[in-house]
Amino acid sequence: MKKIEEYYVPWVKGIPMYVSGHIELAWRQPELHRMMSNENPNPPSEKVLEAILKYGKVANRYPDQGLVVRSKIAEINGLDGPENVMIGNGSSEVFDNVFRCFVQPGEEVIQHTPCFAIYQLRGNILGAKMVSVPMAYKNKYLHFDPDSILKAITDKTKIIAIANPNNPSGNFMDTKDFVRIAETGLPFIVDEAYVEYAGLGMSQIGLTKKYKNVLITRTLSKAYGLAGLRFGYALGDKDVIGQISAALFPWNVGTIPMWAALAALEDTEALAYRVKFNNSEVDFIQESLADVPGLVIFPSKANYILFDCGATGKKGKDMVAYAEQKGLLFRPETEKYGSDGWFRITIGTKEENRMAVAVVREFLTK
Ligand SMILES: Cc1ncc(COP(=O)(O)O)c(C=O)c1O
Repeated sequence: MKKIEEYYVPWVKGIPMYVSGHIELAWRQPELHRMMSNENPNPPSEKVLEAILKYGKVANRYPDQGLVVRSKIAEINGLDGPENVMIGNGSSEVFDNVFRCFVQPGEEVIQHTPCFAIYQLRGNILGAKMVSVPMAYKNKYLHFDPDSILKAITDKTKIIAIANPNNPSGNFMDTKDFVRIAETGLPFIVDEAYVEYAGLGMSQIGLTKKYKNVLITRTLSKAYGLAGLRFGYALGDKDVIGQISAALFPWNVGTIPMWAALAALEDTEALAYRVKFNNSEVDFIQESLADVPGLVIFPSKANYILFDCGATGKKGKDMVAYAEQKGLLFRPETEKYGSDGWFRITIGTKEENRMAVAVVREFLTK
């Protein structure tokens, strides 16, 4: 008799469960200030809480396929209707669904690093070969490098995924470069998880009307502040959305998240408040730390700020450890571009942001 281990598909065998240690720690120790996972520091609005309670009362029933919320999303984005929208249990599930529709073991997915880790995790589980094209670090700025992305394409490439604005660099790529990549015809995911902070005017949604191969993904985890509810979506051509929806898990989005999402999408005042709050706090942190000698601050259009403190002589991981001693959770980043000074801070409450500024200054200047 063969052992169970011999039955695993080779590309899954040996992969451990992904555990986000920082999130586990934050739940275990709620006294720590969460400035590590690009969450929204503001709790859900009253309207969202009302929807949660209302639909909690019918949680004994299966959810439908989200026609109402999908129609609302289509309307907000100037699309024809719900047939242009696929919803997921967070946008992470949306990436998974798209990847499963296009990628076979051994085929390639191009990502532009540093970037969000889920592309790699979902690619791994499908046996994809992840092709990481680094952004260019020049003049204290991380530049998108569309030429290198185009050069990395082979006959095995099945998906190109780029976040815009990118996490962790916080900046946008130019529209003309999106067009160059869209023109390849390859399935192209533009991850707009943070686009609401700069406004939908910065979205590449227009490309989906001309290029069937372009899919936009969004989430309610960031500017809308519903990370714990898990709601994300993809926008695209109706035939493509229809095809990838075939791979959806039935009832993948629960009743409570989908109606809470609708309430959040309708509560434009609550969104405007969160966006304004975030953007002024980004400015506050960037301005407050601008004079720290040797500290590189990456200008952000999202709800986090990336730093490289390599030139101060300090290490990013030591900065993060020091902040944790002071009760603040920041995010470390791997060594790259010859520097071990990387770390990222998510915008917190006003009080948390002031504490963060003090802690960074204290550690890097003492
Ligand atoms: C670039 C990017 N995309 C997507 C997500 C979010 O995912 P989800 O919608 O699954 O919460 C994140 C969260 O950190 C992110 O940084």
